[in-house]
Amino acid sequence: MIKQAIVLAAGEGTRMKSQTPKVLHSIAGRSLLGHVLHALDSVNPETVRVVVGSGREKVEAHLSEIAPDAIAIFQAERNGTGHAVQVALDGVKTNGNILILAGDTPLLSGNTLKEFVAAHNDGGYTASVLTAEHPDPTGYGRIIRDDEGLLHKIVEEKDADDDQKLIFEINSGVYIFDFLALTEAISKLKTNNAQGELYLTDAIENIRKSGGKVAPILCEDFTETFGVNDRVQLAEAASLLRDRINESHMRNGVTILDPTTTWIDDTVTIAPDVVILPGSGIFGSTAIAAHAVIGPRTTLQDCAVNCCATIKESNCTASEIGESATVGPFAYLRAGTILANESKAGAFVEIKNSQIGIGSKVPHLSYVGDATIGEGTNIGAATIFVNYDGVEKHRTEIGDHVRIGSDTMLVAPVNVGDGAYTAAGSVITEDVPAGAIGVGRSKQRNVLGWVMRKRPGTKSAKAAEAKGE
Ligand code: UD1
Ligand code: CA
Repeated sequence: MIKQAIVLAAGEGTRMKSQTPKVLHSIAGRSLLGHVLHALDSVNPETVRVVVGSGREKVEAHLSEIAPDAIAIFQAERNGTGHAVQVALDGVKTNGNILILAGDTPLLSGNTLKEFVAAHNDGGYTASVLTAEHPDPTGYGRIIRDDEGLLHKIVEEKDADDDQKLIFEINSGVYIFDFLALTEAISKLKTNNAQGELYLTDAIENIRKSGGKVAPILCEDFTETFGVNDRVQLAEAASLLRDRINESHMRNGVTILDPTTTWIDDTVTIAPDVVILPGSGIFGSTAIAAHAVIGPRTTLQDCAVNCCATIKESNCTASEIGESATVGPFAYLRAGTILANESKAGAFVEIKNSQIGIGSKVPHLSYVGDATIGEGTNIGAATIFVNYDGVEKHRTEIGDHVRIGSDTMLVAPVNVGDGAYTAAGSVITEDVPAGAIGVGRSKQRNVLGWVMRKRPGTKSAKAAEAKGE
Protein backbone atom coordinates (compact mmCIF):
# COMPACT_ATOMS: atom_id res chain seq x y z
CA MET A 1 0.00 0.00 0.00
CA ILE A 2 2.89 2.33 0.76
CA LYS A 3 6.53 1.87 -0.21
CA GLN A 4 8.52 3.88 2.27
CA ALA A 5 7.92 5.16 5.76
CA ILE A 6 9.95 7.36 8.08
CA VAL A 7 9.31 7.67 11.82
CA LEU A 8 10.90 10.70 13.49
CA ALA A 9 12.11 9.73 16.94
CA ALA A 10 15.37 11.60 17.55
CA GLY A 11 14.06 14.40 19.76
CA GLU A 12 15.34 14.95 23.29
CA GLY A 13 11.96 14.68 24.98
CA THR A 14 13.28 17.20 27.51
CA ARG A 15 9.87 17.83 29.06
CA MET A 16 9.56 14.17 30.15
CA LYS A 17 12.45 14.80 32.63
CA SER A 18 13.48 11.21 32.26
CA GLN A 19 16.57 9.06 31.74
CA THR A 20 14.46 6.96 29.41
CA PRO A 21 14.12 8.34 25.87
CA LYS A 22 10.60 9.74 25.37
CA VAL A 23 9.54 7.29 22.65
CA LEU A 24 10.39 4.34 24.95
CA HIS A 25 7.87 5.30 27.64
CA SER A 26 5.05 2.76 27.64
CA ILE A 27 1.28 2.87 27.72
CA ALA A 28 -1.11 -0.04 27.22
CA GLY A 29 1.69 -2.55 26.79
CA ARG A 30 3.68 -0.88 24.04
CA SER A 31 6.22 1.91 23.91
CA LEU A 32 5.07 5.15 22.27
CA LEU A 33 7.25 4.17 19.31
CA GLY A 34 5.79 0.65 19.40
CA HIS A 35 2.27 2.04 19.01
CA VAL A 36 3.30 4.10 15.98
CA LEU A 37 5.06 1.11 14.37
CA HIS A 38 2.04 -1.10 15.13
CA ALA A 39 -0.29 1.36 13.35
CA LEU A 40 2.18 1.51 10.48
CA ASP A 41 1.91 -2.27 10.00
CA SER A 42 -1.60 -1.83 8.66
CA VAL A 43 -0.31 -0.04 5.54
CA ASN A 44 2.47 -2.60 4.93
CA PRO A 45 5.42 -0.35 4.15
CA GLU A 46 8.29 -2.11 2.35
CA THR A 47 10.89 -0.07 4.21
CA VAL A 48 10.63 1.66 7.58
CA ARG A 49 13.34 4.12 8.59
CA VAL A 50 13.39 5.32 12.18
CA VAL A 51 15.39 8.47 12.88
CA VAL A 52 17.10 8.10 16.26
CA GLY A 53 19.25 10.55 18.19
CA SER A 54 18.73 11.17 21.86
CA GLY A 55 19.17 7.90 23.80
CA ARG A 56 20.17 6.24 20.55
CA GLU A 57 21.51 2.95 22.01
CA LYS A 58 18.35 2.30 24.02
CA VAL A 59 16.04 3.15 21.13
CA GLU A 60 18.03 0.94 18.72
CA ALA A 61 18.02 -1.97 21.18
CA HIS A 62 14.24 -1.62 21.57
CA LEU A 63 13.79 -1.45 17.79
CA SER A 64 15.74 -4.65 17.26
CA GLU A 65 13.27 -6.35 19.62
CA ILE A 66 9.98 -4.99 18.31
CA ALA A 67 10.76 -4.20 14.66
CA PRO A 68 13.94 -5.98 13.59
CA ASP A 69 13.38 -5.05 9.94
CA ALA A 70 13.26 -1.30 10.63
CA ILE A 71 16.34 0.68 9.66
CA ALA A 72 17.65 2.97 12.38
CA ILE A 73 19.16 6.21 11.07
CA PHE A 74 21.28 8.34 13.37
CA GLN A 75 20.65 12.08 13.39
CA ALA A 76 23.72 13.33 15.24
CA GLU A 77 22.51 16.91 15.80
CA ARG A 78 18.82 17.69 16.14
CA ASN A 79 18.25 20.53 13.74
CA GLY A 80 14.51 20.09 13.26
CA THR A 81 12.01 17.77 11.62
CA GLY A 82 13.09 18.84 8.11
CA HIS A 83 16.71 18.06 8.97
CA ALA A 84 15.65 14.65 10.34
CA VAL A 85 14.05 13.79 6.99
CA GLN A 86 17.09 15.05 5.08
CA VAL A 87 19.28 12.72 7.15
CA ALA A 88 16.85 9.79 6.73
CA LEU A 89 16.79 10.14 2.95
CA ASP A 90 20.47 10.91 2.42
CA GLY A 91 21.57 8.72 -0.49
CA VAL A 92 18.17 7.02 -0.82
CA LYS A 93 16.95 6.63 -4.39
CA THR A 94 13.39 5.49 -4.94
CA ASN A 95 10.05 6.77 -6.18
CA GLY A 96 6.37 6.56 -5.24
CA ASN A 97 4.82 7.60 -1.96
CA ILE A 98 6.56 8.10 1.34
CA LEU A 99 4.72 8.25 4.64
CA ILE A 100 6.22 10.30 7.49
CA LEU A 101 5.12 10.10 11.12
CA ALA A 102 6.35 11.21 14.53
CA GLY A 103 7.31 8.66 17.18
CA ASP A 104 5.35 10.47 19.90
CA THR A 105 1.75 10.10 18.61
CA PRO A 106 0.71 6.73 20.08
CA LEU A 107 -3.05 7.10 19.54
CA LEU A 108 -2.94 7.08 15.77
CA SER A 109 -4.87 4.02 14.56
CA GLY A 110 -4.00 1.73 11.66
CA ASN A 111 -7.44 2.38 10.24
CA THR A 112 -6.90 6.13 10.08
CA LEU A 113 -3.55 5.59 8.35
CA LYS A 114 -5.24 3.36 5.76
CA GLU A 115 -7.95 5.94 5.10
CA PHE A 116 -5.31 8.68 4.90
CA VAL A 117 -3.32 6.74 2.29
CA ALA A 118 -6.51 6.02 0.32
CA ALA A 119 -7.61 9.68 0.40
CA HIS A 120 -4.17 10.78 -0.78
CA ASN A 121 -4.19 8.30 -3.66
CA ASP A 122 -7.78 9.07 -4.69
CA GLY A 123 -7.08 12.81 -4.81
CA GLY A 124 -3.90 12.40 -6.86
CA TYR A 125 -2.08 14.90 -4.61
CA THR A 126 1.65 15.63 -4.56
CA ALA A 127 1.51 15.64 -0.78
CA SER A 128 -1.10 15.26 1.97
CA VAL A 129 -1.12 16.23 5.62
CA LEU A 130 -3.32 14.55 8.23
CA THR A 131 -5.05 17.32 10.17
CA ALA A 132 -7.52 17.56 13.03
CA GLU A 133 -9.83 20.15 14.59
CA HIS A 134 -8.32 20.45 18.05
CA PRO A 135 -10.33 22.06 20.90
CA ASP A 136 -7.03 23.40 22.27
CA PRO A 137 -4.62 23.83 19.34
CA THR A 138 -1.89 25.48 21.47
CA GLY A 139 1.57 24.21 20.57
CA TYR A 140 0.62 22.61 17.28
CA GLY A 141 1.34 23.89 13.76
CA ARG A 142 -1.76 25.57 12.25
CA ILE A 143 -3.24 24.65 8.88
CA ILE A 144 -3.72 27.59 6.50
CA ARG A 145 -6.06 26.55 3.67
CA ASP A 146 -6.39 28.34 0.32
CA ASP A 147 -9.67 29.35 -1.36
CA GLU A 148 -10.17 25.85 -2.76
CA GLY A 149 -9.62 24.24 0.61
CA LEU A 150 -6.18 22.93 -0.35
CA LEU A 151 -3.18 23.44 1.91
CA HIS A 152 -1.53 26.83 1.52
CA LYS A 153 1.02 26.44 4.30
CA ILE A 154 1.60 25.32 7.89
CA VAL A 155 2.53 27.91 10.50
CA GLU A 156 4.19 26.79 13.73
CA GLU A 157 2.78 28.13 17.01
CA LYS A 158 5.97 30.13 17.65
CA ASP A 159 5.80 31.75 14.22
CA ALA A 160 2.03 32.36 14.18
CA ASP A 161 0.40 35.80 14.41
CA ASP A 162 -2.69 36.39 16.58
CA ASP A 163 -5.15 35.59 13.77
CA GLN A 164 -3.37 32.37 12.86
CA LYS A 165 -3.39 31.29 16.51
CA LEU A 166 -7.21 31.33 16.36
CA ILE A 167 -7.19 28.50 13.80
CA PHE A 168 -8.29 25.20 15.32
CA GLU A 169 -7.19 22.93 12.49
CA ILE A 170 -3.77 21.53 13.37
CA ASN A 171 -0.97 19.56 11.73
CA SER A 172 -0.87 16.04 13.19
CA GLY A 173 2.70 15.50 12.01
CA VAL A 174 1.62 12.69 9.67
CA TYR A 175 2.35 13.26 5.99
CA ILE A 176 2.46 11.50 2.64
CA PHE A 177 4.76 12.91 0.00
CA ASP A 178 5.64 12.00 -3.51
CA PHE A 179 9.26 10.97 -2.99
CA LEU A 180 10.81 13.09 -5.75
CA ALA A 181 8.80 16.20 -4.83
CA LEU A 182 9.85 15.72 -1.18
CA THR A 183 13.58 15.37 -1.88
CA GLU A 184 13.50 18.51 -3.99
CA ALA A 185 11.47 20.45 -1.42
CA ILE A 186 13.62 19.52 1.59
CA SER A 187 16.80 20.51 -0.25
CA LYS A 188 15.44 24.09 -0.22
CA LEU A 189 14.53 24.33 3.49
CA LYS A 190 15.80 27.37 5.42
CA THR A 191 16.18 28.13 9.12
CA ASN A 192 14.61 31.61 8.97
CA ASN A 193 12.00 30.91 11.66
CA ALA A 194 11.47 31.45 15.38
CA GLN A 195 13.27 28.22 16.35
CA GLY A 196 16.12 28.51 13.84
CA GLU A 197 15.42 24.94 12.67
CA LEU A 198 14.74 23.22 9.38
CA TYR A 199 10.97 22.62 9.51
CA LEU A 200 9.54 19.71 7.57
CA THR A 201 6.33 21.73 7.45
CA ASP A 202 8.02 24.27 5.16
CA ALA A 203 8.43 21.53 2.53
CA ILE A 204 4.69 21.91 1.94
CA GLU A 205 5.00 25.52 0.85
CA ASN A 206 7.99 24.67 -1.37
CA ILE A 207 6.00 21.93 -3.11
CA ARG A 208 3.04 24.24 -3.66
CA LYS A 209 5.33 26.91 -5.12
CA SER A 210 6.72 24.37 -7.61
CA GLY A 211 3.16 23.67 -8.77
CA GLY A 212 2.36 20.66 -6.58
CA LYS A 213 -1.07 20.09 -5.10
CA VAL A 214 -1.12 19.60 -1.31
CA ALA A 215 -4.21 18.45 0.58
CA PRO A 216 -5.11 18.75 4.24
CA ILE A 217 -6.98 15.54 5.10
CA LEU A 218 -9.09 15.87 8.20
CA CYS A 219 -9.05 13.08 10.80
CA GLU A 220 -12.52 12.78 12.39
CA ASP A 221 -11.25 11.89 15.85
CA PHE A 222 -8.83 14.57 17.03
CA THR A 223 -7.63 12.38 19.92
CA GLU A 224 -5.80 10.20 17.38
CA THR A 225 -3.41 13.04 16.66
CA PHE A 226 -2.57 13.58 20.34
CA GLY A 227 1.18 14.09 20.82
CA VAL A 228 3.00 13.17 24.06
CA ASN A 229 5.57 15.71 25.24
CA ASP A 230 5.41 15.40 29.04
CA ARG A 231 4.12 13.04 31.75
CA VAL A 232 0.76 14.79 32.02
CA GLN A 233 0.16 14.13 28.34
CA LEU A 234 1.45 10.57 28.82
CA ALA A 235 -1.28 9.97 31.42
CA GLU A 236 -3.90 11.59 29.18
CA ALA A 237 -2.84 9.39 26.27
CA ALA A 238 -2.94 6.31 28.54
CA SER A 239 -6.49 7.03 29.65
CA LEU A 240 -7.69 7.76 26.09
CA LEU A 241 -6.17 4.47 24.97
CA ARG A 242 -7.66 2.62 27.95
CA ASP A 243 -11.13 3.87 27.01
CA ARG A 244 -10.63 2.92 23.38
CA ILE A 245 -9.40 -0.60 24.24
CA ASN A 246 -12.18 -1.20 26.80
CA GLU A 247 -14.82 0.01 24.40
CA SER A 248 -13.64 -2.36 21.70
CA HIS A 249 -13.74 -5.35 24.13
CA MET A 250 -17.22 -4.38 25.32
CA ARG A 251 -18.45 -4.12 21.73
CA ASN A 252 -17.02 -7.60 21.27
CA GLY A 253 -19.11 -9.04 24.08
CA VAL A 254 -16.86 -8.67 27.12
CA THR A 255 -18.48 -7.33 30.30
CA ILE A 256 -16.34 -4.62 31.91
CA LEU A 257 -18.25 -3.32 34.91
CA ASP A 258 -16.07 -0.31 35.62
CA PRO A 259 -14.11 0.75 32.53
CA THR A 260 -12.42 3.66 34.31
CA THR A 261 -10.59 1.33 36.73
CA THR A 262 -9.92 -1.48 34.26
CA TRP A 263 -6.59 -1.33 32.43
CA ILE A 264 -6.05 -3.73 29.55
CA ASP A 265 -2.97 -3.74 27.32
CA ASP A 266 -3.39 -3.46 23.59
CA THR A 267 -1.69 -6.86 23.31
CA VAL A 268 -4.28 -8.83 25.34
CA THR A 269 -6.96 -11.08 23.82
CA ILE A 270 -10.31 -11.65 25.54
CA ALA A 271 -13.17 -13.85 24.33
CA PRO A 272 -16.82 -12.78 24.45
CA ASP A 273 -18.70 -13.47 27.69
CA VAL A 274 -15.70 -12.90 29.89
CA VAL A 275 -16.59 -10.74 32.92
CA ILE A 276 -14.05 -8.27 34.28
CA LEU A 277 -14.76 -6.76 37.68
CA PRO A 278 -13.50 -3.34 38.90
CA GLY A 279 -9.89 -2.49 39.63
CA SER A 280 -8.31 -5.13 37.41
CA GLY A 281 -5.21 -4.86 35.17
CA ILE A 282 -4.66 -7.31 32.32
CA PHE A 283 -1.30 -7.06 30.66
CA GLY A 284 1.18 -8.40 28.12
CA SER A 285 0.34 -11.53 26.17
CA THR A 286 -2.54 -12.56 28.44
CA ALA A 287 -5.35 -14.45 26.69
CA ILE A 288 -8.69 -15.13 28.39
CA ALA A 289 -11.23 -17.67 27.18
CA ALA A 290 -15.01 -17.37 27.35
CA HIS A 291 -16.96 -17.30 30.63
CA ALA A 292 -13.95 -16.59 32.80
CA VAL A 293 -14.56 -14.10 35.61
CA ILE A 294 -11.63 -11.84 36.46
CA GLY A 295 -11.46 -9.56 39.48
CA PRO A 296 -12.23 -7.50 41.35
CA ARG A 297 -8.73 -6.03 41.84
CA THR A 298 -6.83 -8.68 39.92
CA THR A 299 -3.59 -8.33 37.95
CA LEU A 300 -2.76 -10.74 35.15
CA GLN A 301 0.56 -10.48 33.29
CA ASP A 302 1.26 -12.86 30.37
CA CYS A 303 -1.26 -15.47 31.57
CA ALA A 304 -3.43 -18.00 29.74
CA VAL A 305 -6.85 -18.26 31.37
CA ASN A 306 -9.12 -21.02 30.14
CA CYS A 307 -12.88 -21.21 29.90
CA CYS A 308 -14.95 -20.63 33.02
CA ALA A 309 -12.02 -20.02 35.38
CA THR A 310 -12.47 -17.45 38.15
CA ILE A 311 -9.68 -15.30 39.52
CA LYS A 312 -10.56 -13.07 42.44
CA GLU A 313 -8.38 -10.34 44.07
CA SER A 314 -5.17 -12.02 42.90
CA ASN A 315 -1.87 -11.34 41.16
CA CYS A 316 -0.70 -13.80 38.47
CA THR A 317 2.32 -13.75 36.16
CA ALA A 318 3.23 -16.13 33.32
CA SER A 319 0.78 -18.73 34.60
CA GLU A 320 -1.78 -21.00 33.01
CA ILE A 321 -5.16 -21.33 34.66
CA GLY A 322 -7.19 -24.36 33.61
CA GLU A 323 -10.83 -24.70 32.72
CA SER A 324 -13.11 -23.96 35.68
CA ALA A 325 -10.12 -23.55 37.99
CA THR A 326 -10.51 -21.05 40.83
CA VAL A 327 -7.90 -18.63 42.11
CA GLY A 328 -7.99 -16.39 45.16
CA PRO A 329 -9.00 -14.31 46.88
CA PHE A 330 -5.47 -13.07 47.55
CA ALA A 331 -3.47 -15.66 45.62
CA TYR A 332 -0.05 -14.93 44.11
CA LEU A 333 0.76 -17.11 41.10
CA ARG A 334 4.32 -16.63 39.87
CA ALA A 335 5.98 -17.69 36.63
CA GLY A 336 5.56 -21.32 35.62
CA THR A 337 2.40 -22.05 37.58
CA ILE A 338 0.08 -24.42 35.73
CA LEU A 339 -3.29 -25.06 37.32
CA ALA A 340 -5.08 -27.96 35.61
CA ASN A 341 -8.82 -28.02 35.05
CA GLU A 342 -11.00 -27.61 38.12
CA SER A 343 -8.05 -27.14 40.43
CA LYS A 344 -7.86 -24.46 43.08
CA ALA A 345 -5.33 -21.99 44.47
CA GLY A 346 -7.17 -20.38 47.38
CA ALA A 347 -6.71 -17.60 49.88
CA PHE A 348 -3.18 -16.42 50.70
CA VAL A 349 -1.55 -19.07 48.54
CA GLU A 350 1.69 -18.47 46.63
CA ILE A 351 2.66 -20.87 43.83
CA LYS A 352 5.75 -20.80 41.65
CA ASN A 353 7.03 -23.07 38.86
CA SER A 354 4.61 -25.88 39.76
CA GLN A 355 1.90 -28.00 38.19
CA ILE A 356 -1.29 -28.60 40.13
CA GLY A 357 -3.20 -31.60 38.72
CA ILE A 358 -6.84 -31.91 37.70
CA GLY A 359 -9.20 -31.17 40.59
CA SER A 360 -6.36 -30.76 43.11
CA LYS A 361 -6.69 -28.05 45.72
CA VAL A 362 -4.35 -25.76 47.62
CA PRO A 363 -7.08 -23.94 49.53
CA HIS A 364 -5.39 -21.87 52.25
CA LEU A 365 -2.21 -20.09 53.36
CA SER A 366 0.40 -22.20 51.56
CA TYR A 367 3.61 -21.83 49.56
CA VAL A 368 4.06 -24.27 46.68
CA GLY A 369 7.41 -23.95 44.86
CA ASP A 370 9.02 -26.24 42.27
CA ALA A 371 6.44 -29.01 42.65
CA THR A 372 4.37 -31.41 40.64
CA ILE A 373 1.06 -32.36 42.21
CA GLY A 374 -1.12 -35.14 40.77
CA GLU A 375 -4.90 -35.32 40.44
CA GLY A 376 -7.54 -35.09 43.17
CA THR A 377 -4.96 -34.19 45.82
CA ASN A 378 -5.59 -31.84 48.75
CA ILE A 379 -2.86 -29.73 50.27
CA GLY A 380 -3.82 -28.86 53.86
CA ALA A 381 -3.82 -25.30 55.14
CA ALA A 382 -0.45 -23.68 55.82
CA THR A 383 1.59 -26.32 54.00
CA ILE A 384 5.01 -25.13 52.87
CA PHE A 385 7.03 -26.69 50.08
CA VAL A 386 10.54 -26.13 51.42
CA ASN A 387 12.26 -25.91 48.04
CA TYR A 388 15.39 -23.93 48.87
CA ASP A 389 18.28 -25.25 50.94
CA GLY A 390 20.00 -21.90 50.96
CA VAL A 391 22.06 -22.71 47.90
CA GLU A 392 19.92 -24.67 45.45
CA LYS A 393 16.27 -25.20 44.60
CA HIS A 394 14.82 -28.74 44.72
CA ARG A 395 11.61 -30.33 43.45
CA THR A 396 8.78 -32.04 45.26
CA GLU A 397 6.56 -34.68 43.64
CA ILE A 398 3.13 -35.41 45.06
CA GLY A 399 0.97 -38.21 43.60
CA ASP A 400 -2.78 -38.54 42.94
CA HIS A 401 -5.42 -38.39 45.71
CA VAL A 402 -2.85 -37.46 48.34
CA ARG A 403 -3.91 -35.79 51.61
CA ILE A 404 -1.20 -33.48 52.90
CA GLY A 405 -2.06 -32.63 56.53
CA SER A 406 -2.26 -29.00 57.60
CA ASP A 407 1.02 -27.27 58.42
CA THR A 408 3.20 -29.89 56.73
CA MET A 409 6.74 -28.89 55.73
CA LEU A 410 7.75 -30.83 52.62
CA VAL A 411 11.54 -30.57 52.61
CA ALA A 412 12.63 -31.02 48.97
CA PRO A 413 13.77 -33.09 47.23
CA VAL A 414 11.00 -35.36 48.42
CA ASN A 415 8.19 -37.52 46.96
CA VAL A 416 4.80 -38.42 48.36
CA GLY A 417 3.24 -41.44 46.59
CA ASP A 418 -0.31 -41.91 45.30
CA GLY A 419 -3.00 -42.01 47.96
CA ALA A 420 -0.53 -41.24 50.78
CA TYR A 421 -1.20 -38.99 53.79
CA THR A 422 1.00 -36.79 55.93
CA ALA A 423 0.13 -36.07 59.55
CA ALA A 424 -0.69 -32.44 60.39
CA GLY A 425 2.34 -30.47 61.55
CA SER A 426 4.85 -32.92 60.06
CA VAL A 427 8.27 -32.03 58.74
CA ILE A 428 8.61 -34.50 55.88
CA THR A 429 12.24 -35.05 54.91
CA GLU A 430 11.95 -38.56 53.50
CA ASP A 431 9.78 -39.99 50.73
CA VAL A 432 6.34 -41.24 51.78
CA PRO A 433 5.40 -44.41 49.83
CA ALA A 434 1.98 -44.80 48.19
CA GLY A 435 -0.76 -45.51 50.72
CA ALA A 436 1.44 -44.70 53.76
CA ILE A 437 1.02 -41.90 56.27
CA GLY A 438 4.17 -39.89 56.94
CA VAL A 439 4.41 -38.69 60.53
CA GLY A 440 7.30 -36.33 61.16
CA ARG A 441 6.70 -34.70 64.55
CA SER A 442 7.37 -35.44 68.23
CA LYS A 443 4.76 -37.12 70.39
CA GLN A 444 2.71 -34.74 72.54
CA ARG A 445 3.01 -34.75 76.36
CA ASN A 446 0.87 -32.72 78.82
CA VAL A 447 2.40 -31.36 82.04
CA LEU A 448 -0.59 -31.26 84.41
CA GLY A 449 -1.04 -28.23 86.74
CA TRP A 450 1.84 -26.29 85.12
CA VAL A 451 -0.11 -22.99 84.83
CA MET A 452 -1.23 -22.91 88.46
CA ARG A 453 2.37 -23.62 89.61
CA LYS A 454 4.27 -21.39 87.19
CA ARG A 455 1.72 -18.59 86.49
CA PRO A 456 -0.23 -18.31 89.75
CA GLY A 457 -2.78 -15.47 89.98
CA THR A 458 -3.07 -14.95 86.22
CA LYS A 459 -6.40 -14.93 84.41
CA SER A 460 -5.40 -18.25 82.86
CA ALA A 461 -4.69 -19.81 86.25
CA LYS A 462 -7.98 -18.47 87.65
CA ALA A 463 -9.94 -19.75 84.65
CA ALA A 464 -8.41 -23.21 85.13
CA GLU A 465 -9.04 -23.17 88.93
CA ALA A 466 -12.73 -22.23 88.41
CA LYS A 467 -13.07 -25.49 86.51
CA GLY A 468 -11.58 -27.25 89.53
CA GLU A 469 -8.56 -28.51 87.68
C1 UD1 B 1 5.69 19.15 15.01
C2 UD1 B 1 5.25 19.98 13.79
C3 UD1 B 1 3.93 20.66 14.10
C4 UD1 B 1 2.90 19.60 14.45
C5 UD1 B 1 3.38 18.71 15.61
C6 UD1 B 1 2.45 17.53 15.77
C7 UD1 B 1 7.29 20.77 12.71
C8 UD1 B 1 8.19 21.92 12.48
N1 UD1 B 1 6.26 20.97 13.50
O1 UD1 B 1 5.85 20.05 16.09
O2 UD1 B 1 3.49 21.38 12.96
O3 UD1 B 1 1.68 20.22 14.81
O4 UD1 B 1 4.68 18.18 15.31
O5 UD1 B 1 2.73 16.77 16.91
O6 UD1 B 1 7.55 19.70 12.17
N2 UD1 B 1 12.42 15.10 15.70
C9 UD1 B 1 13.55 14.53 15.19
N3 UD1 B 1 14.63 15.31 14.93
C10 UD1 B 1 14.63 16.64 15.14
C11 UD1 B 1 13.46 17.23 15.66
C12 UD1 B 1 12.37 16.44 15.94
O7 UD1 B 1 13.60 13.31 14.97
O8 UD1 B 1 15.66 17.30 14.86
C13 UD1 B 1 11.25 14.24 16.00
C14 UD1 B 1 10.85 14.26 17.46
O9 UD1 B 1 11.51 13.22 18.16
C15 UD1 B 1 9.35 14.04 17.38
C16 UD1 B 1 8.96 14.60 16.03
O10 UD1 B 1 10.15 14.73 15.27
O11 UD1 B 1 9.02 12.65 17.43
C17 UD1 B 1 8.29 15.96 16.14
O12 UD1 B 1 9.19 16.84 16.78
P1 UD1 B 1 8.70 17.81 17.93
O13 UD1 B 1 9.88 18.61 18.39
O14 UD1 B 1 7.92 17.09 18.95
O15 UD1 B 1 7.77 18.77 17.06
P2 UD1 B 1 6.55 19.64 17.53
O16 UD1 B 1 7.04 20.89 18.14
O17 UD1 B 1 5.63 18.79 18.33
CA1 CA C 1 5.65 16.67 19.46
